This record gives sequence, structure tokens and C-alpha cells, in this order.
Amino acid sequence: MNRLEGRAAFITGAASGIGRAQALLFAREGARVVVADLDADGAERVAAQIRTEGGDAVSTGIDITDEESVATAIAFAVDAYGTIDTLSNTAGMFDKMVPLADADRSFFERVLTVNLTGMFNVTKAVLPHMLAAGKGAIVNIASGAGLRGGGGGIGYTSSKHAVVGFTKQLAADYGRKGVRVNAIAPGLIDTPMVSHFSKAPETVAGLKAQPAGRLGQPEDIANAALFLASDEADFIHAVTLSVDGGQVDTL
Ligand SMILES: NC(=O)c1ccc[n+]([C@@H]2O[C@H](COP(=O)([O-])OP(=O)(O)OC[C@H]3O[C@@H](n4cnc5c(N)ncnc54)[C@H](O)[C@@H]3O)[C@@H](O)[C@H]2O)c1
Repeated sequence: MNRLEGRAAFITGAASGIGRAQALLFAREGARVVVADLDADGAERVAAQIRTEGGDAVSTGIDITDEESVATAIAFAVDAYGTIDTLSNTAGMFDKMVPLADADRSFFERVLTVNLTGMFNVTKAVLPHMLAAGKGAIVNIASGAGLRGGGGGIGYTSSKHAVVGFTKQLAADYGRKGVRVNAIAPGLIDTPMVSHFSKAPETVAGLKAQPAGRLGQPEDIANAALFLASDEADFIHAVTLSVDGGQVDTL
């Protein structure tokens, strides 16, 4: 079954990790994928892999914190595929668990700018196309750190809680106009963002104590994003779906 047949999907952070896994999976499910990332070469490598597999993909550089860059990337996507049916706001940065006493204001603001304002910029540029079509699905990648304290530092945890609120407000404002908005709260996922501690013995021991008993893989998140982006999730609005091996609810 091709659950996204013919849909145009715009995915940020798609050169790596969770974004890359979504790009590959969405393409296998029939989507035409715009692979967007600050790392333009990495984005093109992912798009090229999709095309090698027989899928349809183009790539673009994007800095989600820069409105001009966002406008250029969205114009490129609409030019390529005529519209944007699904948006996956995946690009983000980690703050390496820095607590308030060690975080200066510029670092704090940088984390908020990438993880929250970047999502605002991209969504604001995509939304008019979805409203014009009267339909669309948006999936925002939050974090378990968006649901509890202790999953990040002061900047990351604040920004990811904000992503949960951003998601609910968007859903409240645009659901009746055909745009479904949801979020995913991943647990610890095996990507370059967390490679510095995901394999550490204490982390592995902690993961073993959780219901799933293992480190998450980018494909675990991509599968959930595919579901939320597809028509199978038509009655699902405004949720933040934990995909974390049971971590956040069994701490
Ligand atoms: N890996 C985890 O354990 C985990 C857990 C919870 C949430 N998340 C979230 O998942 C999302 C994806 O993270 P990942 O683990 O795949 O990390 P990753 O480092 O593999 O990928 C992040 C991508 O975002 C891109 N990016 C960063 N800043 C950007 C910007 N300003 N403009 C455009 N692209 C930018 C990077 O170039 C990179 O390709 C992030 O929002 C992250 O906070 C990850």
C-alpha cells in the first residue's frame, strides 16, 4: 500500500537521522519528497538515494532560522511539485544538557531560534499552500524533553515544550480549514545528534530498564510520522505521540 501516493512532502533536517529516515520511507510510500537541510550536500545525497531506489525526490539547502532561505526553499519545492501536502518539521539542535547556570543568553536564544522559531518560519511559509488546497498534514518533531524535565538542558527542554504548544495552537487554528497538525516526542534515537552518549554503558543500562529495552532507531520515528501524515490518521489532531519505547510514562 502506498500511503502517500502522489503527495508532495517537505521534510526539514532530512540530510540525517530522523529526517533522512522519513524522506526514504515517505518516498517508498509514493510521496514526491523535497529533502531540505542546512547541509545541502547531505540533502542531495539522500535525494539521490531515493531516485536510485526508483523514487521521486529533489533536494534544497535551507536554514530554517533565516526567513529568506526558507522562502527560497519553499518556492523551489512548489515549483518542483506544484504544492506541499505534508510538512515534517524535523530540523533541530541539541543543547548537550547544559543547565541554566552554565547557559548564556545567546546560547539559550540560539536553541529556541533553531528548535522553535525555525519551525515557525517553515510552517508560516508552507501554510498558505495548504490553506489554498484546503488540506495538509503537518508533523512536528518534539521530544520526550518536551513532556518532562531532565531530557535536555534548559534551552532544549524549553524549546521542545514550546513545540508541543505550537502544535496544539496550530491544530486549534487550522484543523477546521483542513490542515491536520500533530507532533511526535521521540525518546533516545540512534542518530548523530546523540551519538556522544547513546552508546555509553550507563545509557545502555538505562534503556534496558525501559519497556522496549533498546535504543530507538530513526525508522521507529519515521513509521509514526508516516502514519500521522497519512489519511489513516484523519481523526487525529493536536496530539504529541510518544515514540520512546515507553520511557516517558514509566520513569
Ligand atoms: N536523536 C534523538 O535521540 C532525538 C530525541 C528526541 C528528539 N529528537 C529531535 O529529532 C529531530 C532530528 O534530530 P536527529 O536526531 O535526526 O539529529 P541529526 O543531527 O541526525 O539531524 C538533524 C538535522 O537537522 C539539520 N539542521 C540543524 N539546524 C538546521 C537549520 N538551522 N536549518 C536546517 N536544517 C538544520 C542538521 O543539518 C541535521 O541534518 C530534532 O528536532 C531533534 O531535536 C531527536
